[in-house]
Amino acid sequence: MIEAPAYPSSFRECSDPRMSPPLIIRPAVSDDIGEISKLHARVFGPGRFARSAYRVREGKGHLSRFCLVACLGNAVIASIRTTEVTVGGTAGAVLLGPVAVDGEHRSLGLGSKLIHAALDTAKAGGAKLMILVGDQPYYGRFGFKPVPFGQIVFPGPVNPQRILAYELNEGALAGYRGLVVAEPSQNSAGPNC
Ligand SMILES: CC(C)(COP(=O)(O)OP(=O)(O)OC[C@H]1O[C@@H](n2cnc3c(N)ncnc32)[C@H](O)[C@@H]1OP(=O)(O)O)[C@@H](O)C(=O)NCCC(=O)NCCS
Repeated sequence: MIEAPAYPSSFRECSDPRMSPPLIIRPAVSDDIGEISKLHARVFGPGRFARSAYRVREGKGHLSRFCLVACLGNAVIASIRTTEVTVGGTAGAVLLGPVAVDGEHRSLGLGSKLIHAALDTAKAGGAKLMILVGDQPYYGRFGFKPVPFGQIVFPGPVNPQRILAYELNEGALAGYRGLVVAEPSQNSAGPNC
């Protein structure tokens, strides 16, 4: 298992003093699950359950140590889900996704802040590799690169060109080959979101 993360002080720097109430990015807690679920329903609709990240988590239903929410007051306006996974039985990888920003708050840099904060948090927590299934034109700007065809396999159909990885430890990708499986977690009894 990965050591508990020392949350980076950059969380406070993520607050935007121009916003009222102030924008806060913080680790997600169990009480946020309902609001995250509602956000996902607004952003992705019923198709969310077919997404790769949902399929990987299916039956595990957990909130990982690296999930984050962005809040304006009590309202969750954006979230980033992460799942600690093994790849071909090797631990230390994290599946990122989905990241969701409410429609009226897009193109303000919130998605970028969440992704940078998730990368920092996972690295601080000892993770070696972040993987996702998503658009290279968006995630490429953060340093995510395509995974060589067939190296990392997801349960269910996935366009292999959309499997991307970010090495939190330089050279880590070479150590990960095979099927992505969610790790058990402390919150495994909780609902999925
Ligand atoms: C993708 C998403 C999280 C980005 O959040 P955001 O807060 O708007 O992100 P940022 O402000 O950091 O960046 C916005 C930029 O990314 C671009 N962008 C968004 N999605 C993109 C995509 N799939 N491919 C390429 N560029 C994309 C926007 O056009 C915008 O460009 P601009 O800065 O030139 O206006 C948000 O649009 C969203 O929730 N979309 C619906 C859910 C989704 O598709 N999630 C990603 C899959 S898990």
